Amino acid sequence: MDNRKPCKKSSRRWWKDAVVYQVYPASFKDSDGDGLGDIDGITSKLDYLQELGVNVVWLSPIYKSPQEDMGYDISDYYDIHPPFGTIDSVNRFIAELEHRGMKLVMDLVVNHTSTQHTWFVESALSKENPRRHWYLWRPPISQSAWTYHSATNEYYLSLFSPHQADLNWENASVRDAVHQVARFWLDKGVSGFRMDVINLIAKDQRFPDAEVVHPGQQYQPGDQYFANGARLAEYLLELRREVLSKYGILTVGGMPFLDDEEKRLEIVRAEEGCLDMIFTFKMMGLDMVPEEGRFSFKPWCVGNMEKVLGRSQSMTTKMGWPSLFCENHDQPRSVSRWCDDSDAHRVAGSKLLCLMQATLTGTLYVYQGEELGMRNVPASWGPEEYKDIESINYWKWVCSKWSPGSAEMNKAKDLLRRKARDNARTPFQWEATANGGLCPAGVTPWMRVNDDYPIVNAAAQVAMGKANERTALVSPYRFWQRALEIRKQHADLFVYGDFELIESMHPAVLAFKKSCESTSDVSITVLNYSGEEAEFAIPKDCPVHSWVMGSYDSLSTGKPKEGRIQLLPWEGLVGCCTVAT
Ligand code: GLC
Repeated sequence: MDNRKPCKKSSRRWWKDAVVYQVYPASFKDSDGDGLGDIDGITSKLDYLQELGVNVVWLSPIYKSPQEDMGYDISDYYDIHPPFGTIDSVNRFIAELEHRGMKLVMDLVVNHTSTQHTWFVESALSKENPRRHWYLWRPPISQSAWTYHSATNEYYLSLFSPHQADLNWENASVRDAVHQVARFWLDKGVSGFRMDVINLIAKDQRFPDAEVVHPGQQYQPGDQYFANGARLAEYLLELRREVLSKYGILTVGGMPFLDDEEKRLEIVRAEEGCLDMIFTFKMMGLDMVPEEGRFSFKPWCVGNMEKVLGRSQSMTTKMGWPSLFCENHDQPRSVSRWCDDSDAHRVAGSKLLCLMQATLTGTLYVYQGEELGMRNVPASWGPEEYKDIESINYWKWVCSKWSPGSAEMNKAKDLLRRKARDNARTPFQWEATANGGLCPAGVTPWMRVNDDYPIVNAAAQVAMGKANERTALVSPYRFWQRALEIRKQHADLFVYGDFELIESMHPAVLAFKKSCESTSDVSITVLNYSGEEAEFAIPKDCPVHSWVMGSYDSLSTGKPKEGRIQLLPWEGLVGCCTVAT
């Protein structure tokens, strides 16, 4: 395959080719023995990441914060949460990244601040304080999104927790202050921002009550009022014009509640768009009951996953650019969610998910531990092990409504286990030693390590074969390494190529074709999303000349190249095809 000429529809950019690895600092690596991960710990693991094939690290927030929401409640944008390190540790981290030709993306959380931020502390002093209108204050009203502040007898808007006050983006001084924050970090050598819930900065200024559409539910949907407001593009374009455009960086907006395709394109359209790409959450909604929110579950089907993929991949034909992810710090583990995390199937399933992501068009984001096929927390853990504010509040609500042992409470326990954000936040499993290697033996980690660390850990997986070896069974880590290498070698096809769904004729099989006009390369990806064997007919117009990778390694790559093939449980396969398009 010739990978010199890019596909014509999309111009190359460094951030399109990037493989971004998200680090959740508290849980990655502790360098000073306090049971909490830190920046020096992350620095000490850069070789591991580089070997995996990652070239950008996205850090979840490391700023000074009371940690009510694990750092998504910032009290000083110019300083670091002391247990994570200092500005000097960040400088060292950036230098070590640069030394390896890697880049840093920071989380920019500017829809809200902690109520301990001096901006808010001043704002709360009096109605006359010059910073009063940096936040959104209203006379007494009775909505759950507003928090009462007795000293000034008004409510402030707090869409997340009462400790997180929403900034008033209508105020130009707030926007200036955000621009300064961004400039500060870019001047330090940061190469991009993941912008937290950034479509919430523009709100309907009338702040109407949300209609009660789901009586009996804890919350009512109000996103038509608090997200994607009329001034969203204006604010983002201003930020781009004043700051971001001067640095050539990567920008990705976390944008829940954004389903409208035209609106999405308005944000990401090449050249005149506001941001390079966005994270949308349609796929994360496939197994959710919309009116019940995060703690709900419904069986999902491959047909719906196809639709979501098809929609996001088609962005490229309209000059947009997709982001690819199956995990982040807000989602359960992908192998537990979309596949089967039992001992028998975990490895095959995590490889299937790897192949899906590594062959799709867009910028790829890998979340820490995804490359090991890390699982959700065990079913045996009680609610006391969950540390996330969202899980804790949910559990309090459950306990106030239902009694122990009731069917409702048992169901809630099951939902917590399936969907809690804690699933992704357990310590990274480095090795089979105490605490999975997050911190030394004898130290209590900030959160319990998943019980499976003696089996599922990086040391064991790194030891299982080299990337280029076609051993009988490579570990998920080695498999990801090889998939990322292939993605890079054939970037025209996998990073930039054209996507087309293949009608698989089997309800559990998701298949797609990638092609690149300018190089005539064609590939197919075939994914059996079930624990049963499934038959798949290789399309006649694209016979495979070689199976490049498969969940069962040599067993997969030895499959027939034409006609019907039998897929094993959770088997994913990528084949290169002979035909020109
Ligand atoms: C985003 C973050 C999440 C956080 C919330 C509030 O959804 O990803 O972790 O709790 O914003 O900042």
